[in-house]
Amino acid sequence: MNDHQQTTSPRVISVSSGKGGVGKTFTSVHLAAHAAASGQKVLLIDADLGLANVDVMLGLNASRTMRNLLSGDATLNDLIIPCAHGFDVLPGGSGMYELTSLNVAEQQTILDGLREAGSAYDLILIDTAAGIGENVLYFASAAETALVVLTPDPTSLTDAYALIKVLSQQRDVRRFMVVINQTDEIEAHITFKRLLSVADRYLDVYLDFIGFIPRHACVRKAIQQQRLLNDSDAHVYPHLCKLFDHLLARPRNDSRSGGLQFFWEHSLAAGLNDDPDNSVDGHDNSGVQAHQAQHGTAS
Ligand SMILES: Nc1ncnc2c1ncn2[C@@H]1O[C@H](COP(=O)(O)OP(=O)(O)OP(=O)(O)O)[C@@H](O)[C@H]1O
Ligand SMILES: [Mg+2]
Repeated sequence: MNDHQQTTSPRVISVSSGKGGVGKTFTSVHLAAHAAASGQKVLLIDADLGLANVDVMLGLNASRTMRNLLSGDATLNDLIIPCAHGFDVLPGGSGMYELTSLNVAEQQTILDGLREAGSAYDLILIDTAAGIGENVLYFASAAETALVVLTPDPTSLTDAYALIKVLSQQRDVRRFMVVINQTDEIEAHITFKRLLSVADRYLDVYLDFIGFIPRHACVRKAIQQQRLLNDSDAHVYPHLCKLFDHLLARPRNDSRSGGLQFFWEHSLAAGLNDDPDNSVDGHDNSGVQAHQAQHGTAS
């Protein structure tokens, strides 16, 4: 029996990046499929509203949205779509993308739904938007593990650093998994070293380099064909599998895995008053602060 099966709470991993278009969705979808193939029950939450996101990559068609949940026409479980690759997808749409700006009652409806539905899974992946918006910070700091994807491109590196900086300084996230996409082994190590040297110098964080994903035309081709990579994509697929094996073998983050942190304890509503019309201002982190006070640092 492996780690994830010994604990009752799902492992929750957010997949984020400073810069857009670096491969978050590609990574999330394939990680979900890989974990599912190795026997885990996986839920992939799409918390972005981009043009080419999870539903598009997988060719899914969501008939119901968070609006149906918020208006009481559907439960969150009704929104979850099983996909052909052995895992489930929650096409979060605008409700997830704008979670932190919904009113407290709406947030509570979504978080309650996630808590209930989420407990059935071993692994929950959250594919977030790019950047350091409030919602990204929320998901990345609420997850047990924040996975940062970047490429060797200097702007991607700078933006990844900015994300890590904000998460560490404003949300007390101290441990990050790092994946470098669209590169080769040497360039990936150089890129990670650059990130590490500046992070070591200015931030109090631990960066865990999981590995790299080669850049190859087969990725774009597969995405265009709305299929996942397989053994025939020999330039990338074996690297991907190795990378995900490393990632899934990493021990759970004990300081953040006590319960389904994301759903149970990190509710945005925690600490706010009970007025259901009270919108959460983009800078109001009451729930986050309450959580951090309970748990101390994440390192
Ligand atoms: N390893 C790779 N090799 C070649 N091309 C890649 C690779 N990874 C990603 N791409 C290309 O980059 C594009 C963007 O990838 P993806 O949609 O996963 O990025 P994203 O970070 O989720 O973007 P966004 O910020 O818009 O959500 C893909 O459509 C694909 O064409
Ligand atoms: Mg994406």
